Parts: sequence; C-alpha cells; structure tokens
Amino acid sequence: MGNPLAGRKIVLGVTGSIAAFKAPHIVTRLASFGASVVVVMTENATRFVTPLTFETLSGTEVIVSMWPEKKVGVASPEETLADADRLKHVHLSEAADLAIVAPATANIIGKMAGGIADDFLSTELMAMICPIVVAPAMNVRMMESDAVARNLEILKDRGVIVVEPDVGRLASGAVGRGRLADPDLIADRALELLLPEQDLAGRRVVVTAGPTEEPLDPIRHIGNRSTGRMGFALAERAARRGADVVLVSGRTFLDPPAGVRFVSVGTTSEMKDAVMAELPDLDLLVMAAAPADYRPAEVSDRKIKKQWERLTFELVRTDDILEGVAGAKREGQGVVGFALETDDVIANARKKLEAKDLDLIVANDATVEGAGFECETNVATILGRSGREESVGKVTKAELADVVLSRAVAELGWKRDADG
Ligand code: CTP
Repeated sequence: MGNPLAGRKIVLGVTGSIAAFKAPHIVTRLASFGASVVVVMTENATRFVTPLTFETLSGTEVIVSMWPEKKVGVASPEETLADADRLKHVHLSEAADLAIVAPATANIIGKMAGGIADDFLSTELMAMICPIVVAPAMNVRMMESDAVARNLEILKDRGVIVVEPDVGRLASGAVGRGRLADPDLIADRALELLLPEQDLAGRRVVVTAGPTEEPLDPIRHIGNRSTGRMGFALAERAARRGADVVLVSGRTFLDPPAGVRFVSVGTTSEMKDAVMAELPDLDLLVMAAAPADYRPAEVSDRKIKKQWERLTFELVRTDDILEGVAGAKREGQGVVGFALETDDVIANARKKLEAKDLDLIVANDATVEGAGFECETNVATILGRSGREESVGKVTKAELADVVLSRAVAELGWKRDADG
C-alpha cells in the first residue's frame, strides 16, 4: 500500500499530559501513510514537548495561540505574508478530513463536552465538521471520575470516536486505566476512518475522460467542450476504493491521479482503439469522455489559410465507442455511460442505456445550473438497467463519482459476490 492517505489533511491536537511525548510517533505514522498533518498544541502541551519537534516531523508550522505574535514597527512584506498564511488556519476546521486529540486531558474532554472554546485547539474542535478521534490520557482517579466518564459519554453520543486508554503503570507510579493507547493504534484508527471501503479491490476499471479532437489541419480541430473533471474524479475514487485503474483521456489541463495508469489519446478513433485494447481484461468501463461524434471528412496537411469568406467542411460520423463495446463485451463486464442532454433528459438517457446495452447511465441536464461541463459540481440522475432511478442533488464531482461507483457495484451484484 503506497500512500493511502495522500492528499488527506489531519489535525492532531496535543494537550498537556506527560503522554504528549508519545504524540510525535502519531505524526510519524500518519506521515508514513502520506497524510499531511497539522499539529495544534495547547500552551500546557508545550511544557512537555516543544513545537519544534512536531514542526520538524510534520513539516508544517505548529499552532499554539489564537493570535499571531505582535510585531513592533511596520511589518515587512515577508511578515505580512506569514500572517496571511496564519489566517489560513482559521479555515483549518473546514479543510481537515479528520481531527485527533492525543493525548486528551480531562480538561480538553471537559471543554469539548461543555462547549468551551477558550484557546485555538478548543475553538477549532468546536467548529470541526470532520470526524474527531479522542485518545484520553490521565491519572487513574481522574479517568474514573464521574465528571470524565460523563463527559466522554457526551462526546460519544455526538459521534466522537474514543480510543480507550490502556491499563498500566501511570506517570504517578500508580497502576490503572489512563495510559495513552498505543500511538500506532491511534494512527491506524485514522487510516481505518479515512480509507474508503475497498469494494473495488481486485477489479480492473477503465475510465475515459475529456474531449477528443478531430483535426481539420495541423493547427485546428473540432471537438466537444469537456474539462475531463468527472472522468478524473471517477478514476481517482475507483483507485482509492482498491481498483486497478486505467484512465484513457483526451487533452485536459488536469494531472492524472496518483496510482492510475494514464493513456493519452487524441481522436475518437484513438480513444476507441485504447478502450478496445483494454476490453478483454476489464471488469468495469466508465465512459465519462465526450468523444466527438463527427470528424472532418478531409484533413488538410497544410494550414488552411484565411482566403475565403465562407468555408464549408464535410463531416462524417465517428465510431460510437460504446456501441463497439456492446458488441464485443463478455458476460459479467459492467459498462457505465453518461448522457448530457438539453431536452427530455430521462427519456433520452434511458434510450441510450438500452441502445448501448449499459448497466448504468448517468444523466445530466445541461440546462441546470451547477451541472455538466466546466463546473466543479454536478446534478445527475442515475438510471440502472434494472429500472432503478436515483436523483443526486448538487454534489461535487468526487462525491458523484463515489455514488456512481457504489451504484455500479450494487447493479453488478459485486457486493454479494464479495460477501458470499
Ligand atoms: N460515446 C461513445 N462514443 C461516441 C460518442 C459518445 O462511446 N462516439 C459515449 C459517451 O462517452 C457517453 C455516451 O456515449 O458515455 C453518451 O454520449 P452522448 O454524447 O450523450 O450521446 P450520443 O450517443 O453521442 O448521442 P447524441 O449526441 O445524439 O445525444
């Protein structure tokens, strides 16, 4: 497993317990999974471990105070920039995929349960919308006090995940419950929480994306407007769910997702050849590309000069890739298509589902704001071969990608296979 948490942001809150000396191990392990870790310390925590330790391990500035240090005199451009950078942390609670508080003292647990926000960490935690993991560490009598027990119950009721402390010798010399859980175990919990279900493990998924370009001459082409974002999101999510992914794409401005085999194509005919070459081995084909339906009948090998008032080109139909796939696929291979329509969206999409022998079709209404090309979001209806129809409200393309893949897994009965 390479970097399963690449691109994920984890906030690690460290509070003032002697067990704070174990928190650097959590940072190291999370970083080894590829996560980017931002450490937030309470003032008391800095008495046990220096921020420099965490800064060195995480490669990111550690945040302790709500307030940027006051500078005397006029700030230099560099200082102003540093302050602007610090302001970004205000948005930490929105950007984080997960927050972990380890070690968590009775004090921070009490503040979280009671809704007190009087320093950076407690303020951030209150504003967090991501899952929160709390790993308590404290003296056994505090751990077993009614106050802490109740506060932990309040947190659990709110969905906070508590990694229970171990029983053992505590800093005070006493033996009992209150020793911080194994740092590796705390980090592994984060991995479990952030890693999506591996329901595509062992499956070969081919995704097509972007436009194709049909040349008129060495300089110009005709093609569809498509950024490729939907296809790239599908490839990325399929890879995260364990699939072996090939992304066949026309020209886009996007970087191929990590861990995906990338095949770059120009024309519809090249895209067809690339898909047909993969067809014998694939389990699922998702045609999110917008291949050009027509190509110029003649391609000039010299640049067409601006010498006519009107210019007419004859266009001929390109091959329909999905029709080719329908005639050649094997039993058990799943195929998902897309339909971008302006009229009779559902009826037209269902016709395409049947004509192209698809398992699923994702219908987009190009007239709806926030749907289709050149935007970050999509609004879609997913139609299944079995007659199912599911409307997906305005979501990001990554979210829609997950819904489409889950629908495909269900439609193809892969879940049952995996379970049975
Ligand atoms: N598609 C394909 N080969 C083509 C054109 C489209 O495989 N030459 C695929 C698209 O990737 C999409 C599905 O077919 O998954 C539907 O594409 P769309 O452009 O909506 O429909 P068309 O079949 O081209 O029909 P029309 O343009 O008349 O709506």
